[in-house]
Amino acid sequence: MKQATRTVLVTGANRGLGLETCRQLGRLGWRVLLTAPDSTEGQQACEALRSEGLDVHFEFLDVASQESLSTLAGRLEQEGVRLSALVNNAGIAMDGFNAHVAEYTLAVNFFGPLHVTERLLPLVEEHGRIVMVSSALAELKDYPPAFQRRFNPPPPKEQLQTLLRSFIEDVRAGVYERKGWPGSAYRVSKLGLNALTRVLAEELKPRNLLVNAVCPSWVRTQMGGPHAARSVERGADVLVWAATLPPEGPTGGFFRNRRPVLW
Ligand SMILES: NC(=O)c1ccc[n+]([C@@H]2O[C@H](COP(=O)([O-])OP(=O)(O)OC[C@H]3O[C@@H](n4cnc5c(N)ncnc54)[C@H](OP(=O)(O)O)[C@@H]3O)[C@@H](O)[C@H]2O)c1
Repeated sequence: MKQATRTVLVTGANRGLGLETCRQLGRLGWRVLLTAPDSTEGQQACEALRSEGLDVHFEFLDVASQESLSTLAGRLEQEGVRLSALVNNAGIAMDGFNAHVAEYTLAVNFFGPLHVTERLLPLVEEHGRIVMVSSALAELKDYPPAFQRRFNPPPPKEQLQTLLRSFIEDVRAGVYERKGWPGSAYRVSKLGLNALTRVLAEELKPRNLLVNAVCPSWVRTQMGGPHAARSVERGADVLVWAATLPPEGPTGGFFRNRRPVLW
């Protein structure tokens, strides 16, 4: 029997790891919803993949905008779209460090994946996979034990959100160092994302969904820069792997090079 076409939605996919993930899944025969926060760039990326013969469709999505998310989710629902995988890839690493940087970085890198996942959950099939694109900078072993306890074991979802909002407030009040936070919004956003991965994996076990965080290593993209060790093709491998896990595959894990990494 021919397997039904599987559909994936990838965020932040007009360039870098997101675009390459769309390409690799497209080559595996998946129908790809390539989303981006810029229509011109998103359409161009989509056209490039279509010219390679892939089944790719552009959808506008700014993960930091609830309005944009709600518009897209409503339309996909109306069209009866079912997702076999959701790849929360969109991410930013802003220059500088102040309350605005902290707030916007968390809006894209932590609250974005949280809201996108929660809003699109009804569309995700049983055994669907949810991929959170994280970073080595979120590995807890690199932080003092007292700090690790904020994220391990991960607090319940509401408490986790409150914890991350308190980081923004501590930056705004100029007391983040005294409160034991690192001076990097990117690090805190990915620490939060890893904790969220573990919480969602538990929550979604009854639906047999596989929720995992992955680290692509240091990759030559706009974010990683030209001196990064890894090509975008190799970097995207672990995203594609986590999006195509078999139904009995792992959940609630953190992976690099397809192998588990300690939180
Ligand atoms: N490259 C590395 O070495 C590395 C290492 C570890 C983890 N990562 C993670 O891998 C993921 C992809 O990074 P990358 O290296 O491919 O970076 P990239 O080339 O800078 O691409 C980032 C993508 O995210 C999109 N984005 C930014 N803000 C968004 C928003 N509000 N809504 C939707 N999309 C948004 C960007 O869209 P625009 O083009 O419109 O800005 C772009 O498509 C990120 O989560 C990053 O943290 C990367």
